[in-house]
Amino acid sequence: MLLKSAISSGEQSAYAERVKKLAYKIYGKTPLACVVTFGCQQNVSDSERLKGELSEMGYGLTDDINEAQFIIFNTCAVREHAEDRVYGNVGVTKALKKQNPNIIVAVCGCMAQRQSVADKIKRSYPYVDMVLGTQVQHRLPEFIYKRLSGSKRVFDLTLDNGEIPEDIPVKRDGTFKGWLPVMYGCNNFCTYCIVPYVRGRERSREPNKITAEAEEMIAAGYKDITLLGQNVNSYGKGEAHGVNFAGLLRRINALDGDFVIRFMTSHPKDCTKELIDTIRDCGKVSSHLHLPFQSGSDRILKLMNRHYDRKRYMEIVNYAKEKIPNLSLTSDIIVGFPGETYEDFQQTLSLIKEVEYTSLFTFIFSPRVGTPAAKMDDPIPYEEKSKWFSELLKVQEEIAAKRCESMVSKTYRVLVESAKPNGELTSRTEENIIVEFEGSEDLIGTFQNVEVTKARNWILKGKLV
Ligand code: SAH
Ligand code: SF4
Ligand code: F3S
Repeated sequence: MLLKSAISSGEQSAYAERVKKLAYKIYGKTPLACVVTFGCQQNVSDSERLKGELSEMGYGLTDDINEAQFIIFNTCAVREHAEDRVYGNVGVTKALKKQNPNIIVAVCGCMAQRQSVADKIKRSYPYVDMVLGTQVQHRLPEFIYKRLSGSKRVFDLTLDNGEIPEDIPVKRDGTFKGWLPVMYGCNNFCTYCIVPYVRGRERSREPNKITAEAEEMIAAGYKDITLLGQNVNSYGKGEAHGVNFAGLLRRINALDGDFVIRFMTSHPKDCTKELIDTIRDCGKVSSHLHLPFQSGSDRILKLMNRHYDRKRYMEIVNYAKEKIPNLSLTSDIIVGFPGETYEDFQQTLSLIKEVEYTSLFTFIFSPRVGTPAAKMDDPIPYEEKSKWFSELLKVQEEIAAKRCESMVSKTYRVLVESAKPNGELTSRTEENIIVEFEGSEDLIGTFQNVEVTKARNWILKGKLV
């Protein structure tokens, strides 16, 4: 289903109409589009908007790059590995374009936003028709129209931090679980991170636009809505409407319907007691807090420019644990930040043990050109960092296993998500923990009560109650 947010500026819709006619004429059939997405949920959400626009332009959608007339790579720049993968994928389109020169190839997203990447594509990938930065992607109909009508390759990296476009159709990948962006960009400039450079300044959507989109999702049957932003805790800062993130959660919680509200990411420096109290008080808000601490060492946190120390982090964690009894905590961690010693790393391990996270997203530091950390002295070899990394994973596995063990014999309300090839269903508790159980596929997309019967390492098995 194609949902469209409340206000339509009309301009891009007019281009979409023109593309529809022109593309049909050029291809002699309904053209197909393939959107290939890399990176985080923010990109997944952006891709759903690209797909919405493509549908409005009359394109059918396909996952098979070989049958598409329009191919777009929505890219990520957060670590080097992510960038390497993109170049490999883009290279594949060369042969496709040789067979059919009318195919249009586009690269957009965080990596495309980097001038050096755009220059490299201009120079060495002549078969790429357009490179679009993160703040112009909503103008896709206009860009496709221009290219289809014979204009030169498009390179638009405008990053003016202007108003958030609100007229974009959305074609979500899922039918009962969906992303809902509440803000874009980041102002934090953690010294290792490329995101503020490629996404621009923090900008929050109007609360009314967000609740309107949430209402549309609920009416369309969505049961699990995740609010997205790089730092949702600073939602609304400096905006005239005066609604902060806790206020936004309360508004969405007050909407009619049976659904779960999740959100990510929370930055510890802006995570307030008001937010914790709101999670506790709002029945529909999940008892899950993704609160990345990155490093357990105060010295490293300072070098990372994170604006909190371990003491402040633990204060908020302990407050949250006290107020929300079934709280599930997760975090992102960087191992091997420049100058990190084994002693610093031990601090990270001790924090993990102290907090007892449900799960962790762990990364080895990857230098990103243009960030301060890339210029810092980094004497520890990668192989050594990899050893620390494995040590961390081992510690976390034990913690997760213990946590899962403690859930055995208890009953949880879960949202059933999918069926596995062996016939079992996978489901997720409100705390974001996966439970597998036997049941009919009709249950997918519904809430059920499941008793946890067994914890095998960190996988939970259960039975329908
Ligand atoms: N805004 C979110 C995270 C965005 S990026 C936050 O502040 O928590 C997701 C994660 O990627 C980060 O939390 C960090 O752990 C990791 N990351 C970012 N830059 C990195 C780099 N240069 N090397 C390794 N990991 C990185
Ligand atoms: Fe990157 Fe830090 Fe912003 Fe997160 S808060 S996106 S880690 S700069
Ligand atoms: Fe996300 Fe990667 Fe961009 S993590 S914000 S897609 S750099």
